[in-house]
Amino acid sequence: MSHFLRRTTLTMAFTIAICSPFASYAQNRPSDAEVRAFADKLLNRMTLEEKIEQMEQAAGQYVTPERANELAKKGVGSFLFFTDPVRINELQKIAVTQSRLHIPLLFGYDVIHGFRTIFPVPLAMASSWDPGAVAKAQSMAALEARAAGIQWAFTPMVDIARDPRWGRIMEGAGEDPYLGEQMAAAQVHGLQGDYIGSPDHILACVKHFAGYGAAIGGRDYDSSDISDELLHNVYLRPYHSAVKAGVATVMSAYMDLNGVPASANPWLLQDVLRKDWGFKGFVVSDWETSKSLQTHGFAASLQDAAIRSVNAGVNMEMTSNLYRDYLPAATQAGTVTSATLDDLVRPILEMKYRLGLFTNPYIDVARAQQITLSTQEREASRQTAEKTAVLLRNQANILPLRKDIRSLAIIGPLADSQVDTLGSWSIHAERQDTITIAQGLREKLPNTKITVTKGVEIERPAPASIFDAQVPPTKAVMTTDEERKTEFDHALEAARTAEATVLVLGELQNMSGERASRATLTLPGRQEELLEAVTALGKPVVLVLMTGRPLDITWAASHVPAILNVWYPGTEGGHAVANLLTGDANPSGHLPLTWPREVGQIPLFYNTNLTQIPDDTAHRYWDTSSLPLYPFGFGLSYAGFEISDLALASAKVKSNSVIQASVKIKNTSAVTGEEVVQLYTHQRAGSASRPVRELKGFQKLALAPGETRTIQFSIPADELAFWSPLLRKTVLEPGAFDLWVGNDSSAKLHTSFEVISH
Ligand code: BGC
Repeated sequence: MSHFLRRTTLTMAFTIAICSPFASYAQNRPSDAEVRAFADKLLNRMTLEEKIEQMEQAAGQYVTPERANELAKKGVGSFLFFTDPVRINELQKIAVTQSRLHIPLLFGYDVIHGFRTIFPVPLAMASSWDPGAVAKAQSMAALEARAAGIQWAFTPMVDIARDPRWGRIMEGAGEDPYLGEQMAAAQVHGLQGDYIGSPDHILACVKHFAGYGAAIGGRDYDSSDISDELLHNVYLRPYHSAVKAGVATVMSAYMDLNGVPASANPWLLQDVLRKDWGFKGFVVSDWETSKSLQTHGFAASLQDAAIRSVNAGVNMEMTSNLYRDYLPAATQAGTVTSATLDDLVRPILEMKYRLGLFTNPYIDVARAQQITLSTQEREASRQTAEKTAVLLRNQANILPLRKDIRSLAIIGPLADSQVDTLGSWSIHAERQDTITIAQGLREKLPNTKITVTKGVEIERPAPASIFDAQVPPTKAVMTTDEERKTEFDHALEAARTAEATVLVLGELQNMSGERASRATLTLPGRQEELLEAVTALGKPVVLVLMTGRPLDITWAASHVPAILNVWYPGTEGGHAVANLLTGDANPSGHLPLTWPREVGQIPLFYNTNLTQIPDDTAHRYWDTSSLPLYPFGFGLSYAGFEISDLALASAKVKSNSVIQASVKIKNTSAVTGEEVVQLYTHQRAGSASRPVRELKGFQKLALAPGETRTIQFSIPADELAFWSPLLRKTVLEPGAFDLWVGNDSSAKLHTSFEVISH
């Protein structure tokens, strides 16, 4: 379509849309000036009420159908939680034909790790250390969602989390700002495509700005108290990366940050986000967050809440109606200026225009059906899951299992549970589409005698919120001690009579995610007892962990021969895990977080500062080691790798140049495998103590048996810059640095270099 056509009047545009409702989304990319001119022209025609209406988002499941129709006609900006393509078209038609200015609706949804086809949870995706794979997974999620009429995903969650008690750790990329930056950018690119409005892509929303991951005590929604140093050097970095990647929207967080609620925090939303980073999209509050400014003991009234939220820069308010109810009067009284309103409404209109909604508001329902859960979607989901599992232990190469194994016991409450295989935030998934691990193994090993049994049950709490899979609480199957004993014994018998046992243990899907913090990290219920009893039989045992956080598996780590952590692998989880367990796929995931031994060590993260006595004795606690069970970056493979010959192009690096490091990697095994080679640095002295190690680069590569490759890292010296708490600005300080390369954060291969002024 020519630029001329896109500049036609609204009336003409709607004629096109209505005559050709299912036209392709493909269009030329409009220039910024054109988008701005379009939005300004529209703004000029809008009444105060119409502008405020654009700033409202209503929740589909909380309004009656009649009210939803009414809101569409009134010109509400956005709906969340509509997923039926037919209904989406219906509402869109009301908006574009019956509202005064014919402004299309924006449909948002929590497309967190897939829409109907579920991919592994985000923490798993980060474990792939493969930004390309993550971008692909999110673009497949975008394709499926956009086909159904969703144009906006509340993803990616980029909150750094150092406390696995916090249930939402599962939604992010773990503890490290550098890995977090890569995953944030990859997800934005995957969801949005090359530009906002790319065909078959959707708007991304980076959340929850900012500091939500530092909730005190790991308790969801609790306040965050984060030093300036940590904010700049850790927590804000993935957000900045998402903004640099062109993210369209930002979600402001629930909690208060250092005493000021994030959703009315002008420093965060104006100074950092818009002035320093140049963000041009729009901010949506989290669910009723503007309203809860009063609950925080911050706003004196709901009116005050609306005013402070809007004046801090929240463009769109999620579900509390506060803007609709209080902004008209506030604007008339001058507490909110019309210039402020225009500035907040403009980017909402601009995004709708960029998405092509003014010309192509509808979706093709038949196409949506073809794309939903298609072979390509399933295939992409399986491949992603294969890249995300982390092999934590493999004594005597017990894995992979031989395909001619005669008998196999598959035991555990999660082994054949479809809903749990999906993980949390799979709200649009249908349980019955899911391949469980038991099913995957049955298909993979058709000639093996397979016994599947639970052994123990985990009581399923009632869904904590609408975001949980709506699975009724369970307690039911084994109600008496006798029944429980019979089932436990049955599982032991199955293990005793089988050649090997796969134990699938972990957490139910709603034990992590929102409102799902835990005060312990133990395997829930009697799973540990089952694990120990099965292992005591002395036969080959593989523990497959399904979890959204690191669990206390300290006993297993020295007793169970093999441990494969698959997180929540999604719709195709069973096929992926069966491939991994039998060697048709080779594990290549590495941990995106430090795996503690027990809950008392939390917070435990690798990029801590050195203090009085370096902790190489591991003796800071009286009653346990102060070292983790598995370090950040750790992960095994069925292949073996040797990393050697670390060399720098120069031991002196100018502050405006690039650190060039090379290293050799050899596959010392007889199978092809992928390794993640990681590079860490440490600044020895400066205006602040710097972390003992910081990830500055990584590469994931596949090597054939016996193959050796030399790989190059080119790290811009700028990467060594940090926000200095004494100087209160970002600086790159000349001086001595250490550098390590290896396959986890305890890498031994070391060299050093000096940064010199240019
Ligand atoms: C969550 C957000 C989510 C929103 C909409 C909130 O409770 O914190 O992450 O996007 O609900 O579902």
